[in-house]
Amino acid sequence: MTNTDDRGMRRGLTRYGDAGFSLFLRKAFIKAMGYSDDALERPVVGVVDTGSGYNACHRNASELVDAIKRGVMLAGGLPVEFPTVSIHESFAHPTSMFLRNLMAMDTEEMIRAQPMDAVVMIGGCDKTVPAQLMGAASAGVPAISVVTGPMMTGSYRGERLGACTDCRRFWGMHRAGELEEGEIDAVGDRLCPTAGTCMVMGTASTMACMTEALGMMLPGGACIPAVAADRTRHAEAAGRRAVAMAEERLVPDRIMTPAAFTNAFRVLMAIGGSTNALVHMTAVAGRLGIAVDLAALDRLGRETPVLVDLKPSGSHYMEDLHDAGGMIAVLRELSPLLNLDCLTVTGRSLGENLDAAAPSWSQSVVRPCSDPLYPEGGLAVLSGNLAPGGAVVKHSAASPELLNHRGRAVVFDSLDDLARRIDDPGLDVNPDDVLVLRNAGSKGAPGMPEAGYIPIPAKLARQGVKDMVRVSDARMSGTAFGTIVLHVTPESAVGGPLARVRNGDTIHLDVAARRIALEVGEAELARRVPSPPPSHAGAERGYLRLFLDHVTGPDVGADFDFLAPPLSGRVTPG
Ligand code: FES
Repeated sequence: MTNTDDRGMRRGLTRYGDAGFSLFLRKAFIKAMGYSDDALERPVVGVVDTGSGYNACHRNASELVDAIKRGVMLAGGLPVEFPTVSIHESFAHPTSMFLRNLMAMDTEEMIRAQPMDAVVMIGGCDKTVPAQLMGAASAGVPAISVVTGPMMTGSYRGERLGACTDCRRFWGMHRAGELEEGEIDAVGDRLCPTAGTCMVMGTASTMACMTEALGMMLPGGACIPAVAADRTRHAEAAGRRAVAMAEERLVPDRIMTPAAFTNAFRVLMAIGGSTNALVHMTAVAGRLGIAVDLAALDRLGRETPVLVDLKPSGSHYMEDLHDAGGMIAVLRELSPLLNLDCLTVTGRSLGENLDAAAPSWSQSVVRPCSDPLYPEGGLAVLSGNLAPGGAVVKHSAASPELLNHRGRAVVFDSLDDLARRIDDPGLDVNPDDVLVLRNAGSKGAPGMPEAGYIPIPAKLARQGVKDMVRVSDARMSGTAFGTIVLHVTPESAVGGPLARVRNGDTIHLDVAARRIALEVGEAELARRVPSPPPSHAGAERGYLRLFLDHVTGPDVGADFDFLAPPLSGRVTPG
């Protein structure tokens, strides 16, 4: 009973001061679950079940748990499922990003605290996959990612619909008076027709694609629709593979190297992915002491064409990308630009995985590099006196005529101020103005909500205005579109320049030059009293207190400062 082998149920014994007694007690209790001694001697594979009545995107989680467990048992292991925090975008107040780090801590600590030789993590909705990768990176146990998969598209009066690019498009039409109450309700009935995640290239799809490129998911897993039989077969394969990973001790930091993150960022650009994924992957890399060089990322964007024709940058949906060959087709097309030697969860390199996959075929969703959707990657990193620590714009989803634009600032002090005044008929605003929202960052909101998609003021929307330059320290849903400058760093609430912008100032956005400038003299700016940071009810205690004291900015992933190790000197993209 004093076996020092740290595998299976002997792993991470509860401390009673007597290891033999700890193991005896653990086995006594787990016998209550009905396991045999044979089962308890097997490699243990944890299965993170993020099914929740509040998470529509994870509606199929229990089916995936069953498939993963089947795969583990077919390979001779013992699967043990366990729950963690589960987060859905529309059911989290004040915003799901506020809870991402909580889920990452929960995932890390539950992987570390409970006996498992490997873990399969079921994620899907926007914050869940990054939280799980962050947790797995820190826990250091062999880990493999499975996503719930994208929803199928819906249809309204013969028009194909997808959450949530079309949620925003139809809501914009409703705000402009083009869609009656009954019609917008009918659209709402059809936007999310099946289990699964948003089926455009939003944050969930982007994170799934990047995770496959990073090597943390079995090949082909990112794009399989949630309701497809292939999705459960993929889950079974992941369970099987996790048993082998336990034997091989294939821990995450062998896979998630700077070169692998470079591959993932390359894919972010090529798929016209979500700006949120930049923050999330920065946080995952940070957990391994790897820094993200924003200038290098921008250079990588300039040399990477957008190949994937999906909404919101293009016209198709995730089921189309799956039918076109999924990430295998994307990675193959990008292969001259990728680090093909990177190790993946298969135990083989990315290049070997591509060689082993079925041949690609002619299709129109994944363009060849010789005929891209856009010649440059979807995201640009901006700097300038308004954003000395950087800002991002998804120019593949912006209006070309606004990419070099000078306009008068119309400033909103907070989300509440925005909600109060944006539709005020007396608001002094013109189509050429620049809408500015501050105090919407990590500490300001808190949690950096997806409020960067500032609505077009109702009176302008009714005149047919579809897009304006918008600037904030908030994030934006990956499903949104428009000429929207996000993640302005440092944020207003910590005294960033955004706090000193006044109504009527001139702001100049020049995406080609990667500049966002506040055209106000330094002396004048220094004279101005910054707008005060907002106070938050309930901030004297609990998770909100922890969050406000320790959350960082988007340039370092908006992780808690005590969760990432010191930087190791390793940098990505490299
Ligand atoms: Fe879950 Fe869009 S709300 S992926």
